[in-house]
Amino acid sequence: MANIAFLGAGSMGSAMIPNLLKGGHHVTVYNRTIDKARRLEDLGATLAVKPREAVADVDAIISIVLDDAASKGVWTGPDGALAGTPKPGALAIESSTVSNTWILELCQLAEAKGLHFMDIAVAGRPDAAARAELNAFSGGSEEDFERAKPIFASMCKSNTRFGGVGKGNAFKLIYNTMGVIQVVAAIEGMYAAEAAGIELDVAAKAFGAGNTGSGHVIRHTNYVATGKHENPVHFSGRNRLKDVTYGVEFIEKIGAQSHLGHAAADVLNRMIDLGMGDLNDSELIDALRKIHGQH
Ligand SMILES: NC(=O)c1ccc[n+]([C@@H]2O[C@H](COP(=O)([O-])OP(=O)(O)OC[C@H]3O[C@@H](n4cnc5c(N)ncnc54)[C@H](OP(=O)(O)O)[C@@H]3O)[C@@H](O)[C@H]2O)c1
Repeated sequence: MANIAFLGAGSMGSAMIPNLLKGGHHVTVYNRTIDKARRLEDLGATLAVKPREAVADVDAIISIVLDDAASKGVWTGPDGALAGTPKPGALAIESSTVSNTWILELCQLAEAKGLHFMDIAVAGRPDAAARAELNAFSGGSEEDFERAKPIFASMCKSNTRFGGVGKGNAFKLIYNTMGVIQVVAAIEGMYAAEAAGIELDVAAKAFGAGNTGSGHVIRHTNYVATGKHENPVHFSGRNRLKDVTYGVEFIEKIGAQSHLGHAAADVLNRMIDLGMGDLNDSELIDALRKIHGQH
């Protein structure tokens, strides 16, 4: 069993850590707001006040925090993991949805400290994380992938290696860009149905039953039909914009195009301009009603 430093006990981290503990791993947890991690102590985790304190003597460091700025803070800040003295050869794993540019930069910094870097992004909501049913998208050497496998097996139902360092994150950004496009399309579809005088519950049922019915479409058309958006907010408009921004940036960096990614970002920016960015992403419906009129 592994000795793990886990950086980030937000919605995802706090759902993933109990499964590592159940899997018999020893976990030292750092969270910027330490009080949010107290519950994990009762489950057997050790708490650390600073990332650099969490990483002493561990076999693997896993980070899952908000975005590039948060990841930079926990890895390379003055009290960050790389300012500590992790064991040479330990795995340094970034699981946050961050930009591909930062993943490649972080890899170099971690390797300069003698660590073996991997990007292992995860897909699935916190409820899937709590059931250990995440899907992991891994990037790194085959040897490191084999080392990380038993750790991620405690938290995931699948773990696919997409190639060397950066490729797990690359796939996650493409996957999330598709997801954001589906979310925005679902809400626009519901707004159009409303404008056409169609009952929203009838529309949601039909969208879900047909070929359009992906998980995103089923969930988001139902939020709109019932008027019950997730509270507390699960995924805000601002977070969706973060994902599609990193996604489009990566897709264009490699010489491909994401016309629909740009369009989805444009719609989400309008939600943010209305001061609604911290609301659940499904409340985009109200932004559209404000912009285009109520039906
Ligand atoms: N939620 C999902 O369904 C889902 C699924 C797959 C992947 N992801 C990705 O997983 C990552 C975490 O998501 P989440 O849902 O757990 O987000 P969250 O609930 O908002 O938690 C964010 C985490 O990042 C920390 N953080 C934020 N800004 C920071 C900073 N400047 N310095 C240090 N720590 C900072 C927070 O610390 P505090 O507690 O102190 O605020 C918290 O631990 C994101 O990259 C997200 O895109 C999310």
